[in-house]
Amino acid sequence: MTTDKDAPISGEMPRNEGTDATAPADPGPDADGGPGTGGAAGTENLDSPLHLRPAELRGGGEVEHRDKVFELRKVSVSYGSHRAVGDVSMDVFQRNITALIGPSGCGKSTLLRCLNRMNDLVPSARVDGEVIYHGENLYGPRVDPVQVRKVIGMVFQKPNPFPKSIYDNVAFGPRTMGIKQNMDDIVEEALRGAALWDEVKDKLTSNGLSLSGGQQQRLCIARAIAVKPEVVLMDEPCSALDPIATLKIEDLIRQLKDEYTIVIVTHNMQQAARVSDMTAFFSVRTSEGKRTGELVEYDDTEKIFSTPADRRTEDYISGRFG
Ligand SMILES: Nc1ncnc2c1ncn2[C@@H]1O[C@H](COP(=O)(O)OP(=O)(O)O)[C@@H](O)[C@H]1O
Ligand SMILES: [Mg+2]
Repeated sequence: MTTDKDAPISGEMPRNEGTDATAPADPGPDADGGPGTGGAAGTENLDSPLHLRPAELRGGGEVEHRDKVFELRKVSVSYGSHRAVGDVSMDVFQRNITALIGPSGCGKSTLLRCLNRMNDLVPSARVDGEVIYHGENLYGPRVDPVQVRKVIGMVFQKPNPFPKSIYDNVAFGPRTMGIKQNMDDIVEEALRGAALWDEVKDKLTSNGLSLSGGQQQRLCIARAIAVKPEVVLMDEPCSALDPIATLKIEDLIRQLKDEYTIVIVTHNMQQAARVSDMTAFFSVRTSEGKRTGELVEYDDTEKIFSTPADRRTEDYISGRFG
């Protein structure tokens, strides 16, 4: 075991630089523009109690099936007076792929953004309940959201490479963390990890935006994993891609599971069935004209898609609704 164990998370996330494309977009309902290594401006907080062990966790050691990374306890998220999603309790397991599915507007993206405090960037958003990450409250007073977003990275719906070279896209996160050495190796490792290396190794100085959509999304995944997060959150990462590029990303997601814990939002049920280990099905409850998302059922993906416990899940997965 390494000695990282007791080190508080340190280092900074990419800074919000206003007009610079590196700035995370406001993650509003339709915004998918934040960077893969997204994070707000902030200062390093060495007092952060959030002790993280990503290096160890990636060390290839034995992982008990069902080791918990996140424990959500009665989590609700409101935008102003509108409760978008309510009372969600579920655990997210280590090196699992957890899919969040359900009809549009049921709060999948909202809930996903709770897991790395992206909702902090939405002024009207309020999170109630507890999001426990490795035993610590992610919303505790001394936790630095900038550090959180370093260990819990995010990939968005629409590929959003920076208008920089392929190399600089991947090196961006490590550089903002102050890493200067072995950058070539870091970039290569991340691009290999994102199954993109062979396609770009001879044109690392080309603009990231010159790549195809599927390659751009893999570049965004490379950018997210270059800072060696523990968790990668993905919000409909294939929805802007053609079927072949989609299958490549799905293959990649399955590979990433060896090293990362992945939570993926998808509106594509076949995709959830193909890639995930666990599936959470959300639905919308309408009461007095107000629509609030709720967790209907959470179980092994196989169970959800073969013998769901709730009629609403069955209706949804069989295409009768949604
Ligand atoms: N930034 C925001 N400000 C206000 N309301 C929002 C915001 N983001 C999402 N919502 C609302 O929260 C609800 C859930 O949205 P969302 O999480 O995007 O659902 P899904 O991803 O399942 O489609 C919707 O009613 C949506 O309009
Ligand atoms: Mg969404």
